[in-house]
Amino acid sequence: MRSLAPAAALAKMISVALAMAAFAQEGPGLGIEATPEEVAQWDISIQPNGEGLPPGSGTALAGQPIYTLHCFSCHGAEGKGQLNDVLAGGHGSLDGPAPRKTVGSFWPYATTVFDYIRRTMPYQQPHSLSDEAIYALTAYLLFLNGIIEEDEVMDARTLPEVRMPNRDNFILAYPPGARQKPRQQRAP
Ligand code: HEC
Repeated sequence: MRSLAPAAALAKMISVALAMAAFAQEGPGLGIEATPEEVAQWDISIQPNGEGLPPGSGTALAGQPIYTLHCFSCHGAEGKGQLNDVLAGGHGSLDGPAPRKTVGSFWPYATTVFDYIRRTMPYQQPHSLSDEAIYALTAYLLFLNGIIEEDEVMDARTLPEVRMPNRDNFILAYPPGARQKPRQQRAP
């Protein structure tokens, strides 16, 4: 086989380089750009300090019937005793031989309970409940764990103020130097 003449080889290299540059600039041309409305639907993260919590409010009393309707089948009465994750109890068990991690015994921030339920539950139909219902369900789970009273109103102001029992046992590794010693877990 005859090798390409140097000029032809150079021209080929240049055309390949140009094609690669165009590809890098424009991308592979897959998919369509998300609209701001579509991004907003997924941009729903809530920070530990409550940033991102929507308007609305709820109590455990309001949450109990919603729980019975939408959550009971998988999580059982009072968040215990069904096949799926146990949501209540386990307090003080984490440093023992049979640790039981639940929303109440393990999770460091109450705002995560709201975020998690809104993002993922009910399992088979996420994003189907209103923010009011999510506040009420969050309050109900906190109540089942003995963390708040059944008539305490949870909203964007009060939820971040709830102190979870295991809050101090998470160690901050970053930034370096921020490492704290874990403290003994307190029972609620
Ligand atoms: C069809 C069954 C089903 C239903 C209904 C359901 N869940 Fe769940 N839930 C699950 C499963 C399965 C998991 C574990 C998911 C995983 O680990 O990825 C889970 C996990 C959770 C967790 C996290 C527990 C943990 O410690 O990690 C919470 C909180 C929760 N569900 C709340 C609810 C609430 C509130 C409702 C009602 C609105 C609900 N779930 C309805 C199946 C269900």
